[in-house]
Amino acid sequence: MENKNLEALAAECATCQRCALGATRTNLVFGTGNPQADLMFVGEAPGEQEDLSGTPFVGRAGQLLDKFLYAVDIDRKDVYIANILKCRPPKNRDPLPEEEDACIGYLREQVKLIRPKVIVCLGRISAMRLIKPDFKITKEHGTWFEKGDFLMTAVYHPAALLRDPRKKEDMLEDMKRIKAKLDEPGGVHG
Ligand code: URA
Repeated sequence: MENKNLEALAAECATCQRCALGATRTNLVFGTGNPQADLMFVGEAPGEQEDLSGTPFVGRAGQLLDKFLYAVDIDRKDVYIANILKCRPPKNRDPLPEEEDACIGYLREQVKLIRPKVIVCLGRISAMRLIKPDFKITKEHGTWFEKGDFLMTAVYHPAALLRDPRKKEDMLEDMKRIKAKLDEPGGVHG
């Protein structure tokens, strides 16, 4: 996979049958955005609208994410958005460990090719997979973790904000902190 670009990786991913979700997807949801983004968001798995369109975060949760990006002056075109799973689990159930294991290699390749400075996990499932298995979203959202070349943090999943709008205040604060980190003079690690 050495010299592969994102398009070639997406093409490889498009025919994936590494787990059972390959048989039930309408579209594979590879990821979208700026291939040279400094900021990458990683959600959990495609929902219905994403499965139908092939694009991550376009349903109600995605529209709410867009509002928070707008509120802190981040252009969705400047970031890259992907998920842990590239195919929709039936009825939006949580990903199974074996589905994550089958799919995570694609995300690793995406991160290697994009080389973002900051990776933001959207929700508990993504944070538990990418930051640490015992991640507690209520206690640890907005906390920074250094992981090799990246700074990582997690925020509430936008779907959790739809279920509990009281969490929106925390989300706004976390998003402001992410924007401030990107804008730090000398860059994120400067
Ligand atoms: N929820 C996710 O985690 N990802 C999407 O792409 C849409 C909803």
